[in-house]
Amino acid sequence: MSINLNGYNVLITGGSSGMGYEMTKTLLSHGATVVIAARNKEKLDKAYETLNSEENDVYAIQMDVTDEESISKASDWYQEKFDHLDLLINNAGVGGNIKGLEEYRKSGQFFDIPTSAFNLIFDTNVLGYFLVSKAFAPMMIKQGKGQIIYTSTSTETMTRKGMVPYGPSKSAGEAMSDVLSKELQDQGVMVNVICPGGFTRTPLATPDMIEFFKKNNMPILEPTVLNRPILFLASKDAQNITGEKVIGSKFDEFLSDHNIKLDY
Ligand SMILES: NC(=O)c1ccc[n+]([C@@H]2O[C@H](COP(=O)([O-])OP(=O)(O)OC[C@H]3O[C@@H](n4cnc5c(N)ncnc54)[C@H](OP(=O)(O)O)[C@@H]3O)[C@@H](O)[C@H]2O)c1
Repeated sequence: MSINLNGYNVLITGGSSGMGYEMTKTLLSHGATVVIAARNKEKLDKAYETLNSEENDVYAIQMDVTDEESISKASDWYQEKFDHLDLLINNAGVGGNIKGLEEYRKSGQFFDIPTSAFNLIFDTNVLGYFLVSKAFAPMMIKQGKGQIIYTSTSTETMTRKGMVPYGPSKSAGEAMSDVLSKELQDQGVMVNVICPGGFTRTPLATPDMIEFFKKNNMPILEPTVLNRPILFLASKDAQNITGEKVIGSKFDEFLSDHNIKLDY
């Protein structure tokens, strides 16, 4: 069965790099219209130019998920251009790659984390999810259908030593997803969580983290790990799926647990 996403509109935050970029590529290749959003204009333009082609219906909008005004401008732009939104992927995230965490990465002591770094991670991974969903969910409610997805991390990462405040931020995002799924289900809006299922080779992974994983023979996933899950969640096969966490590296287990057979 091939998936046809013609007329299916997606907005993905953090679509300019890593897993967001790969998910965008796969959604576009199945006919979806995809808007990628991120802060850095140069990176965003480069991603847009690479993705843009006669076959791909792609758009790019500069948006900082921590800044309500920037989100409001992006939302106005979106609603002028498009009359519906099928899928919002809250994928923008920051972690150990931000400035200020160098000392913590060496010492492994949470009190070496500058409060500004703690705030930036929570602002992006939790507040950003709330603000973007707050701006775009009403459009979905009006349509009576849609889906919101949050990119999280595995439970092991959430609680591993050295994971303050990234792990706790994703745990807050997952708890919020659970609440939203219950609040929005009766209005036709599904809310799900995706995560790669382990450390993934993207710009978020710093060279010293990659080195650590290699040295300890720990697996490193590729940024395409969420491509099958996102296609599934965008497809009609998933129209009643809500309140779920879909793990990229364990996607086949998820399918068999739910008695779902796919040929993609
Ligand atoms: N890599 C891993 O091992 C791993 C594991 C589990 C979960 N994740 C999660 O997967 C998601 C994607 O990350 P990735 O690994 O693919 O890393 P990535 O390549 O660094 O992608 C992060 C994206 O988020 C954007 N972004 C960051 N802050 C933003 C903001 N304030 N407003 C708008 N966009 C913002 C970045 O663009 P700009 O910087 O230009 O804004 C970039 O496009 C994140 O939520 C991350 O926490 C990653």
